[in-house]
Amino acid sequence: MNKINVITIDGPSASGKGSLAREIAKTFDLSILDSGSLYRLYAYFAKEGIKSELISNAIQENIEFKISNQDLVIMNIDNDITNKLRSESIASLASELSSKEEVRNALFDIQRSFYNDQGLVADGRDMGTVVFREAKLKIYLTASVEVRAKRRYLELQNRGQEVNMPALIADIEQRDLKDSSRELSPLLPADDAHIIDSSKMSLEDVISFTKNLVREEYL
Ligand code: DC
Repeated sequence: MNKINVITIDGPSASGKGSLAREIAKTFDLSILDSGSLYRLYAYFAKEGIKSELISNAIQENIEFKISNQDLVIMNIDNDITNKLRSESIASLASELSSKEEVRNALFDIQRSFYNDQGLVADGRDMGTVVFREAKLKIYLTASVEVRAKRRYLELQNRGQEVNMPALIADIEQRDLKDSSRELSPLLPADDAHIIDSSKMSLEDVISFTKNLVREEYL
């Protein structure tokens, strides 16, 4: 299989994939795909009552991804919908919808279209196992449920959203179970992925470990 210039970062929710992906993209000047945001957009449009066969068009025509102060900002025409997409209700609908074949198929081409000559960092659940199987470098980033819940707690609190730690842990556990037990593209490390357990690592440690991997195996 010919390898392509893609770095995949897969792992469970709140494992720090997004922060790692943004840092790697910035350091090595690569494009970025946050595939979870596409599943959240799908859930958002479904909740708005858009018919499923029209959702991929709505994403392609109306949505713009921007990076502002190192954060991903998602615009629906002129509306910033980033916070809405980050809510736990959208996350849980996204997780439910992501087990459907029609949803995964509808988003497959959109995800592939993020690949370009500049090279790409793609984060999600099945970037290394399904969408970019021929990626040059694959990372699977994980951490214990408690560590991930604490990170998500702080992130939501910073965004001014109300949070409850036991509910967050239960949500994350339920989503982990759904994501890893579904039949289609379950959450699993690719055979050729580097597995990083960040439970006892700072984000800085994870970033510097990954940058070394990029220099050794990607550049
Ligand atoms: O990474 P996230 O929490 O934003 O993802 C939201 C949901 O989307 C997640 O519960 C499962 C789904 N998802 C997926 O099935 N495949 C991906 N590549 C990315 C996300």
